[in-house]
Amino acid sequence: MEISILRGEESQVYNVEIENITLLSVLNHIKTKIDPSLTYSHGCRSGVCGSCAVRVNGREQLMCEYKPSDGDVIEPIRNARVIRDLVVDTSSIEYFNLRASAWSEGSREGCVSEEEASRIETQTDCILCGSCYSACPVYAVNPEFIGPFALTRVWRYVNDVREEKSDGKMAAVQTNGIWDCTLCGACVPVCPQGIAPAQDIRMLRTKSGMLGFPDPTMNFGGGFDLGGWDF
Ligand code: SF4
Ligand code: SF4
Ligand code: FES
Repeated sequence: MEISILRGEESQVYNVEIENITLLSVLNHIKTKIDPSLTYSHGCRSGVCGSCAVRVNGREQLMCEYKPSDGDVIEPIRNARVIRDLVVDTSSIEYFNLRASAWSEGSREGCVSEEEASRIETQTDCILCGSCYSACPVYAVNPEFIGPFALTRVWRYVNDVREEKSDGKMAAVQTNGIWDCTLCGACVPVCPQGIAPAQDIRMLRTKSGMLGFPDPTMNFGGGFDLGGWDF
């Protein structure tokens, strides 16, 4: 099997004789048997830590889950500074969490029903792999866009019945946040956890209106702007 790996400006092709194993195992083989300089990041080897996301043939994948085929082209995820080979700088995760106040601030005591817990279960499963940022066309042109996973995380807390302070979170995502997303959905199929940030951003927009924040997509001066049709 032949695979190509982007290393800086150039691609390097490796021939490996093993098949039906994960890409991470293939890279471990290359590193230990062929080329110790190859650099990539990984941790849990079981789809939990989120540290091994790369792009394979233009699509985000976790190396510890994806099984490569002959001719595959491997690249680092996009929209993040490449440190070396397939390793990227993930410090923006912390930055956007901070910008969006994407954590619990004042949780009320008490029991949560199974139904209430299930409402935030999917979003809670985010493994911070960065795949959604890699796929997001808005983040690609606006590095200040709070982006899919941080917005999903905001929805996780806003939608948590224990959370008492959601107004501040909603205020934090008005600029470079929920209204800047085009709802294109590119962040959805790349998520290894089955999270749909685009859907969560829609929910945040609805919640935003319920809390009285203005909707900048409404053209109050000349009627309603509905996707190119002026009313
Ligand atoms: S739906 Fe929004 S957050 Fe998701 S990829 Fe498109 S622009 Fe980015
Ligand atoms: S929302 Fe999905 S794709 Fe985005 S960082 Fe979390 S797990 Fe990864
Ligand atoms: S090594 Fe942890 S998710 Fe792949």
